[in-house]
Amino acid sequence: MLQQPLDDRRLDLDPSLESHFAALLVRHKEATAKTGWRYHEFLPLEAFRANAPDRSPLSPTAYLAVETALLTEVNLPWYTAGLAAGLASCPGPIQEFVRIWTSEEDQHATLLESYLLLTGSGDHGARAQARKAMIAAGWQHALAGPFEGMVYTTIQEAATRTFYLCAARACDEEDPALSMALRRIAKDETLHMAFYRDVVKAHLDLDPDYLRPLTAVMLRFEMPWSGAVLRDFEERRAHLSARGVFRLSDYLEEVVQPLWLYWGLDARTPHEEETRKAQVQLRRYRAALRKFARSESGDGEGRDSRSRPVQEAG
Ligand SMILES: [Fe+2]
Ligand SMILES: [Fe+2]
Repeated sequence: MLQQPLDDRRLDLDPSLESHFAALLVRHKEATAKTGWRYHEFLPLEAFRANAPDRSPLSPTAYLAVETALLTEVNLPWYTAGLAAGLASCPGPIQEFVRIWTSEEDQHATLLESYLLLTGSGDHGARAQARKAMIAAGWQHALAGPFEGMVYTTIQEAATRTFYLCAARACDEEDPALSMALRRIAKDETLHMAFYRDVVKAHLDLDPDYLRPLTAVMLRFEMPWSGAVLRDFEERRAHLSARGVFRLSDYLEEVVQPLWLYWGLDARTPHEEETRKAQVQLRRYRAALRKFARSESGDGEGRDSRSRPVQEAG
């Protein structure tokens, strides 16, 4: 749930920035034209054709990481539906970006599912059931408008990128080809993050009081996973975090801190008292994150650690 009602002006994207959005879209198209890829290029097709499944099964941690990523990606129809409806009043380049983003995201679940099938990893039937359950549950969000949507999506893409890089490290030794595929997906997530991140920055540059809706989103951020959808989500998160895959410190150092610096959150000087209060709240939130990240590395427990600072700061 989000906080108190926000100034209506800052719910929407600023239409005066349309040419800037267009330039960001061109930048994205140029970057993807240089690094374009197709999912079959990352599948072990030759080994499969040669009927040479001479490989050991993925370790439980590596499989769990890949399956969790897959189950997140598989909900793409609902992410697209949510974004398309929420951004329907936004300038053309934003809407075009969402369509391109969808086409790029579409490869992610396909690559991961195909990889797991071809390599005989995991229980295909159980995974198929989990996929159906994810999609049947849909995706709900409590974002108050397009600007909050941009902030949320920036953080989500940065967190997803970080998750993929952690998963890639977990697979490095046992399956280098899978690790390469995960790193390739992470590059897509980075480019997506950069578009949304720069849309947010342009608004902060124009009006530092956009910091208020930004704070509302950052303090309550959660990945588009939930206990309701992925019943064993907390168990998965605890298991992976305890084995170095997406710990709280990864979230702090690879997601919150780089965005904090890029958006210059400390240096912004809001005009409104409410925004100044939000800025203080944001600093407390980061301090709480740091504290919990330290205790995570100290006692080796990542259990539930992502939710505690949110409650403390809120
Ligand atoms: Fe993705
Ligand atoms: Fe993504």
